[in-house]
Amino acid sequence: MTRTVYVNGSYLPETEATVSIFDRGFLFADGVYEVTSVLGGKLIDFDGHAKRLERSLSELEMAMPMDSDALLEVHRELVRLNEIDEGLIYLQITRGSDGDRDFVYPAADTPPTIVLFTQAKPGLAQAPAAQKGIKVVSIEDQRWGRRDIKTVQLLYPSMGKMMAKAAGADDAWMIEDGTVTEGTSNNAYIVKGNTIITRQLSNDILHGITRAAVLRFAREAQMTVEERPFTIEEAQDADEAFITSASTFVMPVVEIDGKVLGAGAPGGVSSRLREIYLEESLKSAI
Ligand code: PDD
Repeated sequence: MTRTVYVNGSYLPETEATVSIFDRGFLFADGVYEVTSVLGGKLIDFDGHAKRLERSLSELEMAMPMDSDALLEVHRELVRLNEIDEGLIYLQITRGSDGDRDFVYPAADTPPTIVLFTQAKPGLAQAPAAQKGIKVVSIEDQRWGRRDIKTVQLLYPSMGKMMAKAAGADDAWMIEDGTVTEGTSNNAYIVKGNTIITRQLSNDILHGITRAAVLRFAREAQMTVEERPFTIEEAQDADEAFITSASTFVMPVVEIDGKVLGAGAPGGVSSRLREIYLEESLKSAI
């Protein structure tokens, strides 16, 4: 099926959607994005994604090109047009183009480029990987210093996924000054007993929307949450580990740099958090 995508106010077949070769997203990675999951045809945590989008834009001196209600309508229309039951919606906003290549930003009234498309992912909630758990390897974190801004500069995370693949793993956790920052496209956690440990928010990591929800649910379920850095050695010694993101929800990690955690199967805390997350976020899906 040819997807219908959204580009600058129009709903078009994906084969007819175009963006200028001078677009600053293309030339300078001068743009931000969001990925929102869809379950049962409804959007998970839309408000969180819309708020983070506004913050990312504002950190780059860009304005929200439409308000959150209008953005919600575009998301919903794409879900409807593409008949998405389970999947993802990708949104990207760039600083647009003034028809040439120049490092200096174009005039503030240059229209931004707004693109949204859907990705159908049947079985997303029941992903087989969640039953088995995934393997991660550690790599050096070589990204820039403003990882709290969700920019489209994803070359290093892409390289990280390739390094993981080459090592026979599913993903990579990045290390800076001896501690884990986050996964290539997800936040990283370890579990010791009833305590969940994850790096505190700062410019070092993306402020995950799934992270915020999962930590809230964990506290409500009387689990202890410690927001602090941890080393790979501490992670290898943990009872459990997991990652969170809009595309994986809560995904158990069963091996870190070749060291199998516990019984080598998803642990009780990770599995329970995945269940709680799916149940609770479906309740508030819109
Ligand atoms: N990635 N950290 C990084 C570096 C990420 O790229 C992501 C999301 C997260 C998790 O954020 P959230 O829970 O809001 O999805 C953490 C998206 C899914 C992606 O790039 O496809």
